[in-house]
Amino acid sequence: MKILVVGSGGREHAIALKLKENPKVEQIFAAPGNGGMAAFCTPVNIKATDVEGMVAFAKENGVDFAVVAPDDPLVLGMVDAMEEAGIPSFGPNKAAAIIEGSKVFSKNLMKKYGIPTAKYETFASEEDAVAYLKAQNTYPTVVKADGLALGKGVLIAKNEQEALDAVHSIMSDKIFGASGNHIVIEEFLEGPEVSVLSFTDGQTLVPMISSKDHKRALDNDEGLNTGGMGTIAPNPYYTPEIAQRCMKEIFLPTVEAMKAEGRTFKGCLYFGLMITKDGPKVIEYNCRFGDPETQVVLPLLKTDLLTIFEAVHDERLAEIPVEFSDEAAACVIMASGGYPQKYQTGYEIGGLDSMGQAQGVTVYHAGTKLENGKFLTSGGRVLGVTATGKDREEALQKSYAAVAKISFQDAHYRKDIGKIR
Ligand code: AMP
Ligand code: GLY
Repeated sequence: MKILVVGSGGREHAIALKLKENPKVEQIFAAPGNGGMAAFCTPVNIKATDVEGMVAFAKENGVDFAVVAPDDPLVLGMVDAMEEAGIPSFGPNKAAAIIEGSKVFSKNLMKKYGIPTAKYETFASEEDAVAYLKAQNTYPTVVKADGLALGKGVLIAKNEQEALDAVHSIMSDKIFGASGNHIVIEEFLEGPEVSVLSFTDGQTLVPMISSKDHKRALDNDEGLNTGGMGTIAPNPYYTPEIAQRCMKEIFLPTVEAMKAEGRTFKGCLYFGLMITKDGPKVIEYNCRFGDPETQVVLPLLKTDLLTIFEAVHDERLAEIPVEFSDEAAACVIMASGGYPQKYQTGYEIGGLDSMGQAQGVTVYHAGTKLENGKFLTSGGRVLGVTATGKDREEALQKSYAAVAKISFQDAHYRKDIGKIR
């Protein structure tokens, strides 16, 4: 089979590597991919958001199955376009991807179907939002742009001034473009965060092993928000009791709600949860695999990934077993110095073999390119150094041992991934 993986991050590297384990897979196209994927995939120079170009490529090159991994092409309807062209694909259609594409939609869905989440109001004008903030007068409060914003559309305001500034920059200055035409203002929740990715074919939902992201740039959760600086799986806060409640109060009701709305969700549905003192609540839905959660979840998946993708596509997920190992995994992100703000690229990466790998770990590439046999940095998050072990400590120890041997100029990583305080 010829498989097309759309996207270019560590998540896509992890998906492609897992798909390659299936002997039926002859060739993987990575569009556009990265340096690490170039070592075993065929790079395709098409932007992940170029729906027409991607479908034309898939048709011309006899792609048998496409995996659309990032949010933007899903929200743009790439899966609809692939399916129309006769190419079976993994990922939600445009109607279902709105669960991530519009926070106003997802909040209203949760309210309508009684799914636990932070209390909120939605606004289409700055004037109304300001009036609400003044009347509410409770801080911290959370201001969210409705649409996609590269994971940066959430602003936590500690006081009225910060809230007014947030609303103004989103709705008037349009720092996130049209994504800020509407906003959500919601209650600030507290508690440990848990990511749960799930496979669903619209009827059956199978949760994957839980994980924990580390979003801040610096140790002790200080510094700016990033795309994620590291992950562990499983998440120690996700007890069997919490898991049971999530299944009953959140996961299955969400699948049913989407079906009832005529937006049956097929693909990977990601639940960003907060375990509050009143129980688990939804912070956000994503319509895709998380990054860097995927980098710790897929290494623990024992079932063949292509078999699962095909079962989701054919709506027979209930018929196949999906199994995870009882080990643990850790992923430490090595980023360019300065990330998530300004940083330099083009530095040679030392300590990797010719496949872009290092001993004892799996190195998922994100911001890298392969040039004349050398791996060079090309983005903010560069590598996700991932290990599995009998428990979290062992996995972390292996990851950090490998990180110490990998080098590039101004490399930055957190030293406290997986530390439970
Ligand atoms: P999101 O982009 O929706 O994942 O939000 C980014 C981060 O903002 C989350 O991971 C949380 O840490 C934080 N956050 C979002 N909504 C809330 C909330 N209602 N209360 C507290 N923190 C929140
Ligand atoms: N790690 C969070 C996300 O993928 O959105």
